[in-house]
Amino acid sequence: MDIEFEITEDGSHTFFVPGLNEHYHSTHGAIQESMHVFIDAGLRRCEKREVKVLEIGFGTGLNAFLALQEAEKRSVKIDFTTLDLYPVSTADAEKLNYAELINPSQKDIFKELHKADWERWNQITLWFSLLKMQFDFSNPSEFHPENKFDVVFFDAFAPEKQPGMWTQPIFDKIYSVSSENAILTTYCAKGTVRRMLQAAGFFVERLPGPPGKREILRAVKK
Ligand SMILES: C[S@@+](CC[C@H](N)C(=O)[O-])C[C@H]1O[C@@H](n2cnc3c(N)ncnc32)[C@H](O)[C@@H]1O
Repeated sequence: MDIEFEITEDGSHTFFVPGLNEHYHSTHGAIQESMHVFIDAGLRRCEKREVKVLEIGFGTGLNAFLALQEAEKRSVKIDFTTLDLYPVSTADAEKLNYAELINPSQKDIFKELHKADWERWNQITLWFSLLKMQFDFSNPSEFHPENKFDVVFFDAFAPEKQPGMWTQPIFDKIYSVSSENAILTTYCAKGTVRRMLQAAGFFVERLPGPPGKREILRAVKK
C-alpha cells in the first residue's frame, strides 16, 4: 500500500493512503485518538490480569505499543493478536515518532514490534507477547484463533473506504471468538455499524469521542 507521512495535531505521526484518500488515524491527533478509543474506553475496562487482545489492523503498531505500556504499568499479562493484510515496511515504521513521544526509553521495543516474525508468538517483554497474522479479514470465515479474546480493537479503515471490512459476517465472527464480557471499541459510531454489532449479539453504547469526533462505540458481550 502506497503511504505518505503526516504529522497530526498532537505532534504524532500518521500515514496517509492516497489510493484510498484515507488516514491511518485522526488528523486531530493519532496518539490522542488511540489512547481515547482503544486504551481508555477499551483495554482499561477489562479487569482481568491476563488479557487476550485482538486487533483488526496492526498498521503503524501504535495501538500495540500503547497496550504494551499498559501491560508494563499495571503488571498485566497481555497476549496481543493482530491482523493486517498490508504490513507497513520496517523502514517506514522506524521513522514513526511514537516511541519518542510515548516512552523514549522503549524505542527499541517499538522497533521489535515491527521486526517480530509474522505467524508466530513473539515474547516482546515479560508482560507482552505479540502474534501478527497477515490475513484478509474481509473473509472472516477463514479466521480460527487458538483462544477467545477479552478485548477487541476494531481499527479498520472507514466503512466508506473499505465497506468489506464492516460486514455482518465480520462482527458475527468477532462475537463468536470473544469471551464472556469481552469489550470491543471502534472509532466509528455510524448507525449501520452499531446495528451490526447489536445483531451479532453485543450490547452497544455510544461514548463521547476524542477531539474532532463526536462519538465512538463500545460493544460488550453479555
Ligand atoms: C486504520 S489502519 C490501522 C491502524 C493501526 N491500528 C495503528 O495503530 O496504526 C487499518 C489497517 O487495516 C489494514 N487492512 C486493510 N485491509 C485489510 C484486510 N482486508 N484485512 C486485514 N487488514 C486490512 C491496513 O493495512 C491498515 O493497516
